Amino acid sequence: MSAEKFYITTPIYYVNDKPHIGHAYTTIAADILARYHRLLGDATFFLTGTDEHGQKVQKAAEAHGVTPQQQCDDTVVRFQELWRELEISNDKFIRTTEENHKEVVQEIMQELYDRDLIYRDEYKGFYCVPCERFFTAKDLDDQCCCPECGRETQEIKESNYFFRMSRYQQWLIEYIENHPDFIQPAFRANETLGFLKKPLGDLCVSRPKSRLSWGIELPFDRDYVCYVWFDALINYISGVGYRRNDEMFKKWWPASCHLIGKDILTTHTVYWPTMLKAMGLALPQTIMAHGWWLVGRTKMSKSFGNVVNPLDLIRKYGLDAFRYFLMAEMTLGQDASFTEEAFVARYNSDLANDLGNLVSRVIKMTLRCGSGVIPPPGRLTESELELNAAVDRAVAEMEQALKTLRINQGLEQVMNAVRAGNRYLEQTAPWTLAKNGETERLNTVLYYAAETLRKISILLDPVMPDKMTALRRALGLKNPEASRLDSLIRDEKVLSGLQMHDLDALFLRVKPEAPEATPAPSEPPGEGLISIDEFFTAQLKTAKVLAAEKVAGTDKLLKLQIQVGAEKRQLVAGVAQFYTPEAMIGKNIVIVANLKPAKIRGLASQGMLLAAKDGKNLKLLTIDGDIAAGSQVG
Ligand code: MSP
Repeated sequence: MSAEKFYITTPIYYVNDKPHIGHAYTTIAADILARYHRLLGDATFFLTGTDEHGQKVQKAAEAHGVTPQQQCDDTVVRFQELWRELEISNDKFIRTTEENHKEVVQEIMQELYDRDLIYRDEYKGFYCVPCERFFTAKDLDDQCCCPECGRETQEIKESNYFFRMSRYQQWLIEYIENHPDFIQPAFRANETLGFLKKPLGDLCVSRPKSRLSWGIELPFDRDYVCYVWFDALINYISGVGYRRNDEMFKKWWPASCHLIGKDILTTHTVYWPTMLKAMGLALPQTIMAHGWWLVGRTKMSKSFGNVVNPLDLIRKYGLDAFRYFLMAEMTLGQDASFTEEAFVARYNSDLANDLGNLVSRVIKMTLRCGSGVIPPPGRLTESELELNAAVDRAVAEMEQALKTLRINQGLEQVMNAVRAGNRYLEQTAPWTLAKNGETERLNTVLYYAAETLRKISILLDPVMPDKMTALRRALGLKNPEASRLDSLIRDEKVLSGLQMHDLDALFLRVKPEAPEATPAPSEPPGEGLISIDEFFTAQLKTAKVLAAEKVAGTDKLLKLQIQVGAEKRQLVAGVAQFYTPEAMIGKNIVIVANLKPAKIRGLASQGMLLAAKDGKNLKLLTIDGDIAAGSQVG
């Protein structure tokens, strides 16, 4: 683990609306990576900020009846406040309406214009008035309708300024092919290469003020503003002193990692590299595109009313648990589905049970066996070697995870080490050793149990900084050096002789709420439309209820045994307040047959039944007449 430089960025967020869990995820992921690198002793710079120009912001301002600048000033604080609540450790927060950023963008544009890398041209295109978007002929269908909304477009001619992006196409293809780490995950590099198979056009980098006035004015033509993406991408260099502070810029550029969502891949892997090439600057080391947080299988959107507000979860479950869940649950690169049930399940199993138990057992045991001073260890046995090997594996895996930016894999091994810690206490039974007066053996067990906690507290520190600081304090550690990652690979017996303190439960168990039996709320037409193929990803089948009984300890759930074709399955459904077990038996119902199996109140549930619900009533979807159980629905 050698000290290096690490410069990480998040996308800069549009200030047209308040932040949600998707924005929180990218920022927390970047924060966690920055914190790990600081723990490694790397010189680290973490940049985030807001993207304040362009049509989205102008439209939001119009809708709110304020000036665009006011819209920015009102909304930016919501991001800044949330980042404070999430304990984001950014070194700088950039706003693209800052004077310095605007001037740097103008200087770059002027230079590229002077070098004939930006030129003026007549642009013929098709304009969709409601969408306020331009399309070329090849984007449109036979009727020349808008590919976004299907309405008629108007053919218009407009003069605009273009960046000679096409010039760099071949160079970019070769660069991507020769630098396998440049775009991550690898399938996103292939996606970019696929995009580059078609001829790459020049990039329109201006908007006439008559159409859009909220932007950075072009220095060589006051009738135009800069295209918002050209302006926004430059934040990554204007934020670290480009053209203003050479020393700073040299120290940080090129960035180690631009963390982005998959929807902004092309702008980052095609526009941005060609812009940097034209400016004669090195390319960032890695562009890492993560997937999306979905709600169920649906995109999060205000119009669907399913936007997850991070603050609600933090208030309910605490900040560290929220940060842990986001990191552990999403495999970087792939989509993940957010549900509160999954949150509670992971919270209870990983944090309250595994980690919480280990912490409280070790502390209680050490306090009970004497004065709470951590004793020096005696001779090691097989059990300690096994435990230490599990912890070493977690350290190695986390080191690898940092290199490949896949923190969830590192966390999995840390949780394995936590479970190894619990097994160790069960095997070595310190309470029996204490009872039998086997002091030397007891000392060894208490020491290595505490040492495991120390190492785990460091490995998890970037993810759960508050709880892990509290844990180290309980172990009697004060020295900040004790939390450096490299102290994990030295075994210097730092704990021996330290006074342990008691600690309230780190994570209190929470009661899972009974699941809803109905699918997500209906979505308005338009944005939420799905294709027939998407619909058929859900396998709906008929099923016959063979047996039904109430689930103990809740008045909401029934446990059903159902017949689906030749197969018998168990299903747990939240229908007990509307149907008695007797009334369910014999019904021909409709289920989602290919839902991932889940555990509800400890009972396996293979699928979900469909029902209609209006707030007061719930009615099952049943089959009109006789048909074999297991028949396809759709
Ligand atoms: N302003 C541009 C980025 C310019 S960077 C030079 C932008 N802003 S955004 O606010 O719309 O989105 C910012 C980031 O949030 C994107 O990386 C996007 O992928 C991410 N997310 C928005 N919704 C998301 C989810 N539901 N899940 C995960 N991330 C998603 O694009």
